[in-house]
Amino acid sequence: MIHLEIYRFDPEKGDKPSMQSYAVPVSKPGMKLLDALNHIKWHLDGTLTYRRSCGEGVCGSDGMNINGVNGLACITDVAGLKQPIKVRPLPSMNVIRDLVVDTTHFFDQYRSIKPWLKTETPVPEHERLQTPDERAELDGMYECILCACCTTSCPSWWWNGDRFLGPATLLQADRWIKDSRDEAAGERLDQLEDSFKLYRCHQIMNCMEACPKSLNPTKAIDHIKRRLLTRKS
Ligand code: SF4
Ligand code: FES
Repeated sequence: MIHLEIYRFDPEKGDKPSMQSYAVPVSKPGMKLLDALNHIKWHLDGTLTYRRSCGEGVCGSDGMNINGVNGLACITDVAGLKQPIKVRPLPSMNVIRDLVVDTTHFFDQYRSIKPWLKTETPVPEHERLQTPDERAELDGMYECILCACCTTSCPSWWWNGDRFLGPATLLQADRWIKDSRDEAAGERLDQLEDSFKLYRCHQIMNCMEACPKSLNPTKAIDHIKRRLLTRKS
């Protein structure tokens, strides 16, 4: 059996949050934490609430705090986890219910960097092309699934998340600055040159540890800072 302690909170009931214990049978080799949560929901306690969709580490919807570390339940092996497995919602987010957090502010910040191709030149007859090297510049960034594991592990975002954009949004900002087809790098850098939006990153590097896709938001933030310095000199 696998033993879990899971954060429970239902604002409609008015009770304080609490941890609830469950025991789940091992159903298959390589069983994931999401399999255990599904077993609880489908066989033991239908009131347990959490987000999930793809089950394959692609949609980013099941970010949660697992034994004190942020990660995706669907790609986390239960075999490697100390028991009882303590499962909590992502830190520093308002909890809607149980493991479901309110991501409104996180996605508002993402939208604020205008995450789409911005161009001024006339639309070509065919697609805007990139060389293989230009395309390779986006490696390590386009893979981001916006799960928020990095941003919600960042103490600077906990303290200044109203104004600091956080690692996920800044990684995405760099993704568009680096895109050879985009024609708004100057405008993007202007918007990021702000003591809070960008410079609240103190290279604590929790984001790198937390990212389930092994991405490096700290490197992206450093690249933006260097681009700002270069254009001043
Ligand atoms: Fe998730 Fe990694 Fe993207 Fe952060 S950088 S949102 S941890 S995939
Ligand atoms: Fe889609 Fe885990 S359910 S990333």
